[in-house]
Amino acid sequence: MTTPVTCTARPSLALIKYWGKNPGPGVNLPATPSLAMTLDSIETRTQVRVVQTSNGNLGDQIVIGDEVQSPEAFAGFFQNLRQVLGPLIRANAQSFEPSVGEGPAWAFDVRSQNNFPTAAGLASSASGLAALTGACVASLLRPEFRTPWERALVDQEKSLQEKRTEPLTADSEFRELGRELPGFPGLPGLLSLSALARYGSGSASRSVFGGFTLFPQGSPVAHPLESADFWPEARIILVPLSSARKPVSSRIAMNRTRDTSPYYEAWVNDAPKVAVEAQEALKKRDEEKLGTLMINSYLRMFSTMFAAQPPVVYWLPESLVVIRLAAELRSKGLPVWETMDAGPQVKLFTLSSSVPEILRAVEQALPSVVPVVSGPGNGLQWVKESTL
Ligand code: ADP
Ligand code: DP6
Repeated sequence: MTTPVTCTARPSLALIKYWGKNPGPGVNLPATPSLAMTLDSIETRTQVRVVQTSNGNLGDQIVIGDEVQSPEAFAGFFQNLRQVLGPLIRANAQSFEPSVGEGPAWAFDVRSQNNFPTAAGLASSASGLAALTGACVASLLRPEFRTPWERALVDQEKSLQEKRTEPLTADSEFRELGRELPGFPGLPGLLSLSALARYGSGSASRSVFGGFTLFPQGSPVAHPLESADFWPEARIILVPLSSARKPVSSRIAMNRTRDTSPYYEAWVNDAPKVAVEAQEALKKRDEEKLGTLMINSYLRMFSTMFAAQPPVVYWLPESLVVIRLAAELRSKGLPVWETMDAGPQVKLFTLSSSVPEILRAVEQALPSVVPVVSGPGNGLQWVKESTL
């Protein structure tokens, strides 16, 4: 058994919405590009050990909170991880745990905690699969390589953000830049981690990075655009309206919408334009422009879902209360724009100076709701101590 590794990740909240093209293992490439902010106030913490399975009687095990997960749900993710890392391990045995080389079979033993509701529309799949990727990969490295590798990833994130300036580097070219890690031949770099995370969940490819990210249409990886300190005043106020598991997973909703909504194609055609404008607004830190595009993005996504057969309707009456409240506050001059994901929760984008006034208004409208305020947060982080 190897020393356990703990990795944390935070949800990446889509300001402009991703929708998977062909959801399923390995093929959930984005049909629509997304632009997201990684949040700093809620997180997933995942601990992984590699265990021997010489009798072949123990496969990968994953427990989230106190719920043992069905192995099938993660089979595609682990299979891809082994397929990608296997050749690297064989070619660079000196960097990896000796027990994962030619020795007996091995498996991942995973314990994970989300400090927010799972599968409720708060992007647990984004932080969950990103933290799982970070913890699994680090658990395979020899302990003495882990800290230098983690430090090199921090430097790589900065250098990738710098390379992502005008003119925008083409997706295919950019992918090559971050696949490997300078100074660590054979060890996966950040874009490889993003691609591995994407196998579990599209939005997880973004949570590998901090700050602001882009998941381009058709790309297998997310791109880091700007670090968390690019726009320190940016805030997302999560307004949790229900902690229940959503009735239809986002993946099923994606498939159904793609297969049955007459508006699907129109939305997919329109989305790239919105994403390009949103990138420009982000670069200028133009909250009004970005906020307006955010509203276009989520309402076009939901209009498409409402038109599916059977219709996909995640909204609760309270969702509409918050949407109307945001419109009312905007009409009074407050900078606040809402968005929603596959779930009933509403998320408000604003700037730090307006947070107190917005919170007062939310409390007045929905006294039992406890909003959570987030600034731009970090991507993957590995921690020494763990309470898991
Ligand atoms: P959400 O809106 O929370 O992202 P989804 O239905 O899209 O909901 O995804 C929920 C799924 O994400 C869970 O069923 C589980 O498969 C995965 N997930 C959530 N949390 C974790 C975690 N901590 N570790 C690994 N996978 C997770
Ligand atoms: C509406 O990343 O959860 O929240 O790739 O099937 O795992 P899979 O989907 P997931 O989808 C998130 C969709 C969304 C928009 C977004 O986060 O971009």
